[in-house]
Amino acid sequence: MTATGRPARLLAFLGSPRRHGNTEVLLDAVLEAAAGAGAEVDQVALARLKYEGCRECGGCDHTGQCIVDDAMQTLYPKLREADRVVVASPVFFAGVTAQTKAMFDRCQAVWIRKYRLKGRAEEGPAGRLGAVIAVSGLKNPEVFRGLVAEVRAFLRTNDFKYAGGLFFPGVDRRGEIKLKPGALEQARALGRFLAGDGPKPAAVTREPWAPAGVSPTQVEAAAGEGFEEKEKPGSSRAVRD
Ligand SMILES: Cc1cc2nc3c(=O)[nH]c(=O)nc-3n(C[C@H](O)[C@H](O)[C@H](O)COP(=O)(O)O)c2cc1C
Repeated sequence: MTATGRPARLLAFLGSPRRHGNTEVLLDAVLEAAAGAGAEVDQVALARLKYEGCRECGGCDHTGQCIVDDAMQTLYPKLREADRVVVASPVFFAGVTAQTKAMFDRCQAVWIRKYRLKGRAEEGPAGRLGAVIAVSGLKNPEVFRGLVAEVRAFLRTNDFKYAGGLFFPGVDRRGEIKLKPGALEQARALGRFLAGDGPKPAAVTREPWAPAGVSPTQVEAAAGEGFEEKEKPGSSRAVRD
């Protein structure tokens, strides 16, 4: 429920192509709890949709509208209307899955609208908040760095504030996540939080790799900077640096 009494609209992207895999198990727990706490939930299984990556054709340059006619066209309005978004993806080759990354890259049209044409998504009464759920085969949480940088660029472009997420390293076999003590309860707590019911769970972290003693802002500066369009001093050209 939001501050105005309207249920929070929660849009969730399942980025794993493996049916009943670790990511799906976790995301189901998030969404079940969120729905139980009154949110309107919408799960999009990316691997079941047909869409391509960005063609870099320039078709959106003057309108902020992607001209490629595929399933991505059904996702743009969902992204505009959601109050909360969850990106759930295993680590594949140090980042999100190809299905997730192709969806991110298609948000170049949104990037154009935001930074070149100065159009923003409307801030709903619930605020726009984004979270991530990620699992990896490797045990070192450093493995999430690339994935988090990608997710944050996606969230920022779509005007969602990054709330952090749940990260489970060392999970490889299908369904192995069910053996991790507390994992499903953490997912349910995240769901209730995203529905607007309760504080941010303690397990939700922004940088799971951050060593003690390094301030989150230092780490964030390294991970998140450079995606916004900036004017270079002395130059009339806007650049992404
Ligand atoms: C194509 C592919 C690439 C992978 N790349 C990585 C990787 O770079 N680092 C890692 O820790 N695990 C990697 N993994 C392991 C997955 O992250 C792990 O098996 C995860 O539990 C799969 O989640 P799922 O069941 O939700 O699909 C990879 C798995 C596949 C199939």
